[in-house]
Amino acid sequence: MQQYFKINGGNPLTGNIEIGGAKNSVLALMIASTLTSQVVTLEDVPEIDDVNVLIDILKFLGSNTIKAKQGKRNLLTIDNDLIEYKELEIAEVSKFRASYYLMGAMITRYKKCRLLFPGGCFLGPRPIDLHLKGLRKLGCTITEIDMENGDLILDVKVEDKLRGDRIFLDFPSVGATINIMLAAVMAEGDTIIENAAKEPEIVDVATLLSNMGAKIIGAGTDELKIVGVKKLHGCFHQVLPDRIEAGTYLMIGGLLGEDLTVSNVIPEHLDALISKLQDVGVILDIKDEEITVLGREDRLKPVNVKTGVFPSFATDLQQVLVTMLTQIDGESQVVETIYPERFRNCAYLNDMGANTVVTSSVESGKVVINGKTSLTGADVMATDLRAGAALVFAGLVANGETKVHNIPHVLRGYDSIVEKLTSVGADISLVIEES
Ligand code: UD1
Repeated sequence: MQQYFKINGGNPLTGNIEIGGAKNSVLALMIASTLTSQVVTLEDVPEIDDVNVLIDILKFLGSNTIKAKQGKRNLLTIDNDLIEYKELEIAEVSKFRASYYLMGAMITRYKKCRLLFPGGCFLGPRPIDLHLKGLRKLGCTITEIDMENGDLILDVKVEDKLRGDRIFLDFPSVGATINIMLAAVMAEGDTIIENAAKEPEIVDVATLLSNMGAKIIGAGTDELKIVGVKKLHGCFHQVLPDRIEAGTYLMIGGLLGEDLTVSNVIPEHLDALISKLQDVGVILDIKDEEITVLGREDRLKPVNVKTGVFPSFATDLQQVLVTMLTQIDGESQVVETIYPERFRNCAYLNDMGANTVVTSSVESGKVVINGKTSLTGADVMATDLRAGAALVFAGLVANGETKVHNIPHVLRGYDSIVEKLTSVGADISLVIEES
């Protein structure tokens, strides 16, 4: 079976796109739910494949999960009363990145965890040394085991008990900050994470854990204090809106939107993007929970962008931005400081007629975009999640028909992307061919 997106470009987009819950938050929240035997209900859970794979993992551990709809809201109820310790040497774990949070959660609940090395998009090297350093500081022994079949297994144990400590992160890693929080919430004593990540997803996870009875101070700042508690309980939690999904549609709207509203957004989470869109000449109407692209100035202007940790420009939005910049006269530059090799979309953009030149070093990568170039529909590959979104965007702009292949990457992270784009006037469909 082959599946791809078929897109006929050029349609203006009008109407409303409602944003779902944040992928990078919900996966951590679902895993955090395993820290209690009581029921945790999450609202606004996005319909994405990563969520479904994680549900399979939770079911494998013995969770009872129920998906339901309340009006337009997607609910996920997770009951972990019957979960039990199991080794997680299962393929599902290597399908997505956030499975590394199982380490923090399982070590808290069972004092041990053995799992396949987490997977996820190829964005260049993605070490997890800071996660492991943090867990070791709390008392874990970690062995990395190379299996004969090529698998890498992480074997994590704590002999006595987890004990709070001061942990300095060399880099404010989102994943390491959340993983250490999960391992520290019920550790003995206090844990301080210095140089912690400040992304909104950190605050969302800390909020859920606090609603479950944890004591976490300073979420959203660079110093987090976690006071170990004895027990956590169930709760109801609304998942934070996905700022990356919102940003993607705002950029698409930046070129194609005519009164295109993106609703269920927190504009403060998108400040860096909003500022760049305004520099480019996109006219936005920003309200408390929605942003409308009203149109654009007659002549769009090129911009230079550098990715960084929150509140700087998000690396997850960079590839989509590059598509937009191909349609602006002049030279734009995007410097990528988080994942220097995150430019695999550019070769496909060039196949469609763009003029992008990528240079990468260990420290950072850069793409120079020489616009404006007209794009022509082509067969392209979604090499990773956001590259896929960037190429869908290119297809929406291009003349003629574009086929975006390898779309499981996109379906991993974008909730109902075909339905949402179609509802505002795009000509895009998901084609399934028996091969
Ligand atoms: C998360 C997001 C991802 C996003 C990224 C940066 C999830 C599931 N994924 O990924 O979509 O692009 O944040 O906002 O939430 N690093 C180390 N050692 C570590 C951990 C990270 O060197 O132990 C480096 C990474 O190589 C990278 C940088 O730190 O250069 C940022 O990584 P991190 O914030 O940890 O990203 P992820 O949690 O993997």
